[in-house]
Amino acid sequence: MDLPVSTWLPAAAVRRSWRSFIRKPLDEERLARVERVCREFRPFPEARVELVREPVEKVATGVVGGYGRVSGAPCYLAFIGRMVSNHVQECAGYTGEGLILEATSLGLGTCWVGGFFKPGAVARSVRLAGDEAVIAISPIGIVSSVPRLTDITFKAISGSSRRRELERLVEGGRVPEGGIKAALEAARRAPSARNRQPWRFRITDGTVTVFTGSEKQDSKLSPRLDCGIAMLHLELGARAAGLAGRWEFLEAPNVARYVPAATSSF
Ligand SMILES: Cc1cc2nc3c(=O)[nH]c(=O)nc-3n(C[C@H](O)[C@H](O)[C@H](O)COP(=O)(O)O)c2cc1C
Repeated sequence: MDLPVSTWLPAAAVRRSWRSFIRKPLDEERLARVERVCREFRPFPEARVELVREPVEKVATGVVGGYGRVSGAPCYLAFIGRMVSNHVQECAGYTGEGLILEATSLGLGTCWVGGFFKPGAVARSVRLAGDEAVIAISPIGIVSSVPRLTDITFKAISGSSRRRELERLVEGGRVPEGGIKAALEAARRAPSARNRQPWRFRITDGTVTVFTGSEKQDSKLSPRLDCGIAMLHLELGARAAGLAGRWEFLEAPNVARYVPAATSSF
């Protein structure tokens, strides 16, 4: 499946995390669309997403009103990776964010949940191959046009809408103008666990290398998962600017390099 840039890039600009949902079943048309994208958006063999048509409360944990507490969604997405690969985390982030943006473009709310769920309970609802594990989940459902108190409080306390300035994310602090800047801006807006924004960018010879910053890992969740999410945003921004390209995976602390087909345009 080609990246649907014209719907996913605008979705990336408005997406935010939702933790409380209206307790209402989802219409079959949107569910079928999400299931189709789960089947067809498989850019890497290392990762896939499954829609589980069961209430998120069956698998979600977390403190009421706090981080990780999601409620009311009639369904959830399970982000599944093949754990034998060194690149599973970034592949899961990239693929999972595709489904998050598809759901957003359909007017549905989502929230990556990496820590506060029961992997064993999810595994009973999805068929896992021997080398697969559930890396994260996301509730998916209808949200109120007026955010509920828990969402407002969480947003205010956590500062979740804040992002680091681009100059602090690009090695050397010099942000190039043109299409690449638009791509980096799209990447900068990506969601990350606890909004830690671990991605950094190195621009060399017309390519962009994504690598992880020096901050210590503050949870069991790999920063490479967040970087995979930012990779999808970066590619959407690059493609919208006419810079179609491909990813080359790299070893830690690097994650991957985006190589545009026409490097002279950078
Ligand atoms: C990989 C990942 C894991 C996350 N895990 C959780 C979680 O366990 N609980 C939660 O409430 N939010 C979780 N989040 C949501 C982040 O807190 C949120 O994306 C970030 O604060 C930025 O806010 P925004 O999504 O509204 O832009 C996670 C996000 C990502 C990308």
